[in-house]
Amino acid sequence: MCGIVAYIGHRQAYPVIIKGLKRLEYRGYDSAGVALLNHNIKLYKKKGKVANLEETVLGQDLEGSVGIGHTRWATHGEPSDRNAHPHFSATGKLAMIHNGIIENYAPLKQELIKKGYRFKSETDTEVLLYFIEEIQSNNDCTLEEALRIALKRVVGAYVIVLIDQDHPDMLLAARKGSPLVIGIGKGEHFLASDATPIIEYTREVVYVNDYEIAIIKPDELVLKNLGNERQTPFIQKLDLELAAIEKNGYAHFMLKEIFEQPHTIYDCLRGRLDIGQGVITMSGIQNNLEQMKNASRILIIACGTSWHAGLVAEYVIEDLCRIPVEVEYASEFRYRNPIVHKGDMIIAISQSGETADTLVAIERAKEQGAVILGVVNVVGSSISRVSHAGAYTHAGPEIGVASTKAFTAQLTVLTMVALLIAKERKTISNDRYIQLLNELNEVPEKIKRVLDNAAHIKEVALKYKDALNALFLGRGYNFPIALEGALKLKEISYIHAEGYPAAEMKHGPIALVDESLPVVFVATKDSFYEKIVSNIQEIKARKGKVIAVVTEGDQVISEMADDVLPVPEADELIAPVISTVPLQLLAYYMGVAKGYDVDKPRNLAKSVTVE
Ligand code: AGP
Repeated sequence: MCGIVAYIGHRQAYPVIIKGLKRLEYRGYDSAGVALLNHNIKLYKKKGKVANLEETVLGQDLEGSVGIGHTRWATHGEPSDRNAHPHFSATGKLAMIHNGIIENYAPLKQELIKKGYRFKSETDTEVLLYFIEEIQSNNDCTLEEALRIALKRVVGAYVIVLIDQDHPDMLLAARKGSPLVIGIGKGEHFLASDATPIIEYTREVVYVNDYEIAIIKPDELVLKNLGNERQTPFIQKLDLELAAIEKNGYAHFMLKEIFEQPHTIYDCLRGRLDIGQGVITMSGIQNNLEQMKNASRILIIACGTSWHAGLVAEYVIEDLCRIPVEVEYASEFRYRNPIVHKGDMIIAISQSGETADTLVAIERAKEQGAVILGVVNVVGSSISRVSHAGAYTHAGPEIGVASTKAFTAQLTVLTMVALLIAKERKTISNDRYIQLLNELNEVPEKIKRVLDNAAHIKEVALKYKDALNALFLGRGYNFPIALEGALKLKEISYIHAEGYPAAEMKHGPIALVDESLPVVFVATKDSFYEKIVSNIQEIKARKGKVIAVVTEGDQVISEMADDVLPVPEADELIAPVISTVPLQLLAYYMGVAKGYDVDKPRNLAKSVTVE
């Protein structure tokens, strides 16, 4: 997630800004920059960590009591010095930082290119800044007025902060959809994406609302709406401590990221799923769609949770596209002497985009002529760079070691890819296609309903927190979710948990069942429902404890199970992305109840960049 810091007042701006950017490092980023105003604007920016920026500015002119700073999480344009923020306007008299996505930046960019503008970066931010300056010069109006006009044309989310060489006593800021906090000091103001860079200077803050513009001087804060009407700033007292603010008030990053999922799924769908038109557009794979459509086989390569996403994709792609799919552990694939045919397509799934086993497995497949589609969360990561085509999951930085929001974003992207290929291959009816688009569109709301039930899930978790072992069972699309639920529990609570296809019980694991063994069934209403009911009866007959993820309103299993975790009804092909959420919370609450560091579980790393 991008981070924003700005300052205007009696202090030197640079020390305030650089310290503030460090406070925001927890948000995840891939480049950083600062612009300072003292007669003219001095701008420094660098790919990599804030420490790289500090090295870059050593010995440079850092004077100025007005400044803006930014840590960038790449969305448009890969991590690089030129794509880092701040950006200069065409005249060089303005500089701007931005957090968010300008969805209609492409047509705006075309308009400006036709007028002779040339851009230095690939970012949507630079386009917006040029657009603002173009309006100001065309209408001969103030920068504030030009900003108001420009923002009425913008589609998307933004927090922007502008400095103007001709008005060194002013900062301009605006907000829609991304957070902006203004700290009120004595003869000074602090701006940031959240209160962490501000709290050491002042606890008096104003949270800027959507569609508001802030005109900020050292001793004056004016808020206006886009209709140029003054708004009364609502000054609040900060009562959170630093650590709590970083987690947005949640106890852990893992919990924050679980609760972000309605928003991150929406971000994943945004700009790709157009319900009105009934189409999916994925620019990153459009050029390879022909190859994918004609693939003789699809090999999915991944590790851990990403491998589970691959298993769900296997069911979805074979069901919809009628192309044979094989899912491979990257660590096994890379050491075997695998057979990869020229017409094969490889889907490499990775949250970090840096997993060593997956990277090497991709190289092995490329050596044999396969086309690589990367489904990755970190923009510009190694796997995204070695792939021929790609679809980012746009889940934002995932800080918790246990993957949650990235997993549901992976499932969402993979389902859209499968629908695109099935449409091309005409292996799906139009009615079924439209039905699944609508189902996908409803996922954020359905996940929110599961999250609203978190207190109940916590109660269930506390009942079983002392279990020594656990089984997770599912059939069909829900089988990979059983595996994922087991992995979550293992890595967060250190309870030994195994996932199995429910029908496999009778081939051995049922010997484990007794009254001390909780068995979690992913048992939503689908084509395997009756079979799952029988499997639950087998467990109950042996005094096993049954926790069942069930479809809301389910009567039969709810009577049989010891505890139920209801989820909203969904098509069985879409259900996994929803059914996984109660299992994330179950693992989280059990791990917390056992007193473990659920964000940094023992022995684990967020990205396994070693073999
Ligand atoms: C998931 O909760 C684990 N942290 C781990 O299995 C992870 O999914 C695996 O290491 C793969 O990581 P990647 O998605 O970044 O490639």
